[in-house]
Amino acid sequence: MFAHNPVMVEKVLSCLSIKSNDIIVDCTLGEGGHSSHFLRNVKDGYILGIEQDSVILKKAIQRFREFHQKFIPVRDNFSNLKSIIQDNIGKKVDKIFFDLGISMFHIKESKRGFSFSREEPLDMRLDQSKSLSGMDVVNRFDKKKLAEIIWAYGEEKFSNRIAGLIVQEREKNRITTSTRLADIIRRAIPRKHWPKNIHPATKTFQAIRIFVNDEIEILEKALRDGIECLKPGGRICVISFHSLEDRIVKSVFRDLTKGCTCPPDFPVCVCGGKKIIKILTKKPLFPDEVEINTNPASRSARLRCANKLEVNFLDKVSPDMRVIA
Ligand SMILES: C[S@@+](CC[C@H](N)C(=O)[O-])C[C@H]1O[C@@H](n2cnc3c(N)ncnc32)[C@H](O)[C@@H]1O
Repeated sequence: MFAHNPVMVEKVLSCLSIKSNDIIVDCTLGEGGHSSHFLRNVKDGYILGIEQDSVILKKAIQRFREFHQKFIPVRDNFSNLKSIIQDNIGKKVDKIFFDLGISMFHIKESKRGFSFSREEPLDMRLDQSKSLSGMDVVNRFDKKKLAEIIWAYGEEKFSNRIAGLIVQEREKNRITTSTRLADIIRRAIPRKHWPKNIHPATKTFQAIRIFVNDEIEILEKALRDGIECLKPGGRICVISFHSLEDRIVKSVFRDLTKGCTCPPDFPVCVCGGKKIIKILTKKPLFPDEVEINTNPASRSARLRCANKLEVNFLDKVSPDMRVIA
């Protein structure tokens, strides 16, 4: 009935350490795979589920129709996380969860050209109210810009050749389908350089999708906003699917563990830096072999989790008092 198998469910539940009265924000609700497990564990609390795609959101609403008192669906982009929480909850929350990227629904059912193996219109928008589609990117952007996107968001070393062939091919006729684009990419990469385990178009499709949906640019702020909205003692758990996302998660988490950055010989702190979180996953967690075998889409997932620190007594007093204390 549901196209998407939630990834690393047991690890997510254990990292989030859900309590019966928790308020949980699922920032990437999808079909509600993870949230269905959250709902089972929450008796007196509730889940706020954010999803930018109205089609998949409807599926989650239908799935959770019996839980209407414990489930608040919101169609929005998690780039607006702070105002979404403010408007719908009005106070700090216990748990924040992100499962980044797209759902199996998008690849298998949406018919929006996310998959290179299905002949579909090259749309690639998660939010259908946005104006820029994958078709616009490949038919309108100049070669330099296309190569930049394919390199920056796909880390594809043949970005220049791929961009060049896209521009050449679209002069014959517009590129409108996923399969035509996949074929152009395949031809642009010398056969001996085709990757072993993935389709040669994988990285370029990922790059165009990320660009169309602005997936990377919004992530850092959303993570910082999410952590700001957590209660002391609250937890944030993030699953990412490629190194670009994971690097951002890692760097935001690290930055918020730093605390005071004043030189050691300063008698008092003048920077005001505080440790905001404690990282609970020193190294990212990965799906185990059994999960990868039963759900191959999980193979590139990695999970990081952090705990918001309790308010420290010393944080509440003025800097002058701190010297005395
Ligand atoms: C990997 S899927 C989540 C799957 C879900 N955890 C489950 O188990 O069913 C990611 C979902 O987040 C949504 N999404 C991605 N970026 C978003 C954003 N910036 N704001 C809101 N939703 C977003 C996608 O449309 C997609 O449905």
